[in-house]
Amino acid sequence: MSNVLKWNAKDTLKKPQLKGKDFLTLGEFTTDELLYMLEEAKELKSLQKQGKPHPYLSGKVLGMIFEKSSTRTRVSFEVGMLQLGGHAIFLSSRDIQLGRGESISDTAKVLSRYVDSMMIRTFSHESVVELAEHATVPVINGLTDLHHPTQVMADLLTILENKGKLAGLKMCYLGDGNNNMAHSLMEGAAKVGMDISIASPAGYLPDGKITEKAIADGKLTGSKIVITHNPQEAIKDADVVVTDVWTSMGKEAETEKRLQDLKDYQVNQELCQLAKEDYIFLHCLPAHRGEEVTAEIIDGPHSVVFDEAENRLHAQKAILKLLLE
Ligand code: CP
Ligand code: NVA
Repeated sequence: MSNVLKWNAKDTLKKPQLKGKDFLTLGEFTTDELLYMLEEAKELKSLQKQGKPHPYLSGKVLGMIFEKSSTRTRVSFEVGMLQLGGHAIFLSSRDIQLGRGESISDTAKVLSRYVDSMMIRTFSHESVVELAEHATVPVINGLTDLHHPTQVMADLLTILENKGKLAGLKMCYLGDGNNNMAHSLMEGAAKVGMDISIASPAGYLPDGKITEKAIADGKLTGSKIVITHNPQEAIKDADVVVTDVWTSMGKEAETEKRLQDLKDYQVNQELCQLAKEDYIFLHCLPAHRGEEVTAEIIDGPHSVVFDEAENRLHAQKAILKLLLE
């Protein structure tokens, strides 16, 4: 039986050789590598919950470049490094020379002389790729306009904890399909054998290349990827319902238009009645109640958004451990 068809414990999966690698998109990892990272995250979470020290990255330093705001990503990486025995340095682009025009390549080369790994949150995905090309230490994508892979690792961990499996489930994503969360969810679902239906209006469909790659990956795991304009069709019988803000960071000038264009894709009680009775609701946060989701849903009994936020910590610690230990 393939690893995606059943949930394997860590000892049945071969430890992948991830040391020194970058973590830029989920599409770049194999199914087994992602499943192993999730198992590692479960173990680290259990150690932390039991209060057992786990200083696997003693003395290691993570440099974190932020060109956009963050609450969860910043705090979870910082706390995660501390719990692993290492240290994290917050580098706002407002303060470092990158923000005054120093090149990405020089920044990568200089920081590589000081830190053991870099995390970056920025606008264009190409900037992360460029940083990784010039860095001699692993680079982690902390969100770009196209991808948010560390968030989706936390999402997969949350789904696994709630449903006991990933393969064979149906995920539904409603709203702005042309955003980082939709893309990384699609890539992640395809890798772990989960079906995903994305419903978005015209002009908000996921990136064509990312979709094609996910469809190809999905063929290997049995994951069906559906892109539709019809939210009812997408949410029907879903095990997992997900949405994200309608106006991502950097797109603020389009807010009014987006509110108008996306209004039929709000996750609300009426639509959620079409999902499975025991569906769970995920949102990477921050959320706008009354826009992409009603308060009734995000604050209701199906919502696991705060467990999901907590799981950023555990999932990222697993990634850091595997890239750096
Ligand atoms: N979900 C997420 O990435 O949150 P922050 O923007 O607060 O980091
Ligand atoms: N799509 C959102 C995610 C925030 C964590 C954004 O890019 O702003």
